[in-house]
Amino acid sequence: MTVQIAPSLLSADIGHLADDIAVAVEGGADMIHIDVMDGRFVPNLTFGANVVGAARRATDLPLDVHLMVVEPERYIEAFAEAGATTFTFHPEATTHVQRQLDLVREAGMRPGLALNPGTPLAFAEEVIDDLALLLVMTVNPGYGAQRYLPASNGKIARARALLNATNSAIRLEVDGGISVDTIGRAYAAGADTFVAGTAVYGSANPREAIRELRRRCAVSV
Ligand code: DX5
Ligand code: ZN
Repeated sequence: MTVQIAPSLLSADIGHLADDIAVAVEGGADMIHIDVMDGRFVPNLTFGANVVGAARRATDLPLDVHLMVVEPERYIEAFAEAGATTFTFHPEATTHVQRQLDLVREAGMRPGLALNPGTPLAFAEEVIDDLALLLVMTVNPGYGAQRYLPASNGKIARARALLNATNSAIRLEVDGGISVDTIGRAYAAGADTFVAGTAVYGSANPREAIRELRRRCAVSV
C-alpha cells in the first residue's frame, strides 16, 4: 500500500503558515493535516474554516481536516467552501453519523470517521461503505506531542482486517505520537496514512523528517 504522510499544522508556526506548508510540500508531503478543536469535544481550541482557506491559498495539496468538535455537521458547508478535501469527524460528536457522512460527500469532500482510543471499531463497521478514510487515533485527541499508545497496534491490525474483510479500499490513517520510532509498527500493523506534527515541525529539518518517516515504513516489513 502507498504510504501517505500528512504533516499537522498544529505544530507549525501559525505566523508563517504559508512557509511551513511550503516546507512540507518540499519534503514530499502527500497532504496537510488541519486539527479543528472547539474546546468542548476536546479541551483545546484551535483553527476554523478561515485557516483552512489560508492553507488552500498556500498549496494545491489535499487538505485533511480533522474536526474534534461537537455537532460537526454545523461546519460542513463552511469547510467545503474553504477548500477542505477530507472532512473527518468523531462519531460521539453527532447523533446521525451516517447522515453526516452523506452530507460531507454531497458537499464535495471525502468523508472520514475518527475513533478515539477508547472507541470501539464497531462504530465504523456499520458505515464502512460510506467512508473514504478511517482514522484510528493513537493518542487521546486535544494536544500535539503526546505519547503513542502501544495498544494502538492491535486496533490498527483489527481495522485493517475489517477493511480487508469488506473489500474496502479506504485509507487507514493514524494520528498522534507518530515518529521515526513508532511509524514502522503502525505501518506493519496496517496503517497507510500517517499524521505527524511534532515529528515534522519539531524537527530541525522538517523536509528530511518527512522523508525519514516514509523510509521507516519501507524498512519495517
Ligand atoms: C491531536 C491531533 C493531532 C496532532 C498530532 O489531537 O489530532 O493531529 O497534531 O500531533 P503529534 O504528531 O505531535 O502527536
Ligand atoms: Zn489530527
